[in-house]
Amino acid sequence: MKIAVTGGLGFIGSHTVVELQNVGFDVVAIDNLSNSSIEVLDGIERITGKKPVFENIDLRDKAAVQDFFKKYHDLAGVIHFAASKAVGESVENPLLYYENNINALVYVLQELTQLQQANFIFSSSCTVYGQAEQMPITENASVQPAMSPYGNTKQIGEEIIQDTAKVTPLNAILLRYFNPVGAHESAEIGELPLGVPQNLVPFITQTAIGLREKLSVFGDDYPTTDGTAVRDYIHVVDLAKAHVVALQRLIHQKNETKVETFNLGTGKGSSVLEVIKAFEKVSGKALNYQIVGRREGDITEAYANTDRANNVLGWKAELGLEEALASAWKWEQKIRS
Ligand code: WQD
Repeated sequence: MKIAVTGGLGFIGSHTVVELQNVGFDVVAIDNLSNSSIEVLDGIERITGKKPVFENIDLRDKAAVQDFFKKYHDLAGVIHFAASKAVGESVENPLLYYENNINALVYVLQELTQLQQANFIFSSSCTVYGQAEQMPITENASVQPAMSPYGNTKQIGEEIIQDTAKVTPLNAILLRYFNPVGAHESAEIGELPLGVPQNLVPFITQTAIGLREKLSVFGDDYPTTDGTAVRDYIHVVDLAKAHVVALQRLIHQKNETKVETFNLGTGKGSSVLEVIKAFEKVSGKALNYQIVGRREGDITEAYANTDRANNVLGWKAELGLEEALASAWKWEQKIRS
């Protein structure tokens, strides 16, 4: 069976392509290489022995999307990762985010819903919950007014899918990721942040390898055990495997509801200082960091209630924070060697 993975050379996309190939799917990876590199294809091939078909397409180009679906009219499904994802950048450049994250989604859905099978998996985010009232966060926690244009594009994306599924053959699963971290154990693929990393773990590994002078810890005055903010850090390989399970659910067991939503996390929260301590343990390196003020727009705490993912989707995270940090560190050392 053939599956299209948009953003297939990106961080989560490439790890998902590996897991799809591992269970026998034929993958067509679509990417415009704006936040990834063509070498990722070779990394995937070194892991699975199979290079995915690659289509260099910018999904903002409606005609190109139409041509793609004419060529691949026999797809069993689409997993849609392609999107801009930097919270801060989205505040500075909202129209880039609405064009890239919304127009592209609309063009893909316009074509997908013409096919025999319209199975669609959407990369969403726990950011839709804002600061949830209750921990752990369940899927029926209220969706809060978005804190950034990036978060808004995820909320709008989910609504577009819900509305479309009502009146077309579309069957969809919305996957709300908590904090994806780590890299494939082979260190053949991993996160390739462009410029100064916005996210915690790549900043930690770049500090440890000497690329960054020190990590700034954004605030230690939150109402948490040690004052630093708490997140649910999920290994990217666990996250990738969840996409395979979700796709198989869409293909084989037509779910009664046309659109299902699942939180993807470990169910465990870790503070920034706990992540630093865990990293120092797995790397054997003392990390140079300094507590500074809070970052605008950050929330105090978010970690997932994983009951639905475990009991309905049939997926559970297997890898813990230390494995994720060890794999991120191994990857950082590999790409800087
Ligand atoms: C984690 C914690 C920071 C950097 C965002 C998006 C989410 C997803 C993941 C795309 C926070 C602290 C960070 C640093 C720090 N994005 N931190 N120093 O903000 O939880 O989630 O990225 O898929 O949708 O919202 O992730 O890694 O940026 O921050 O102290 O240099 O680490 O304050 O508490 P975040 P993050």
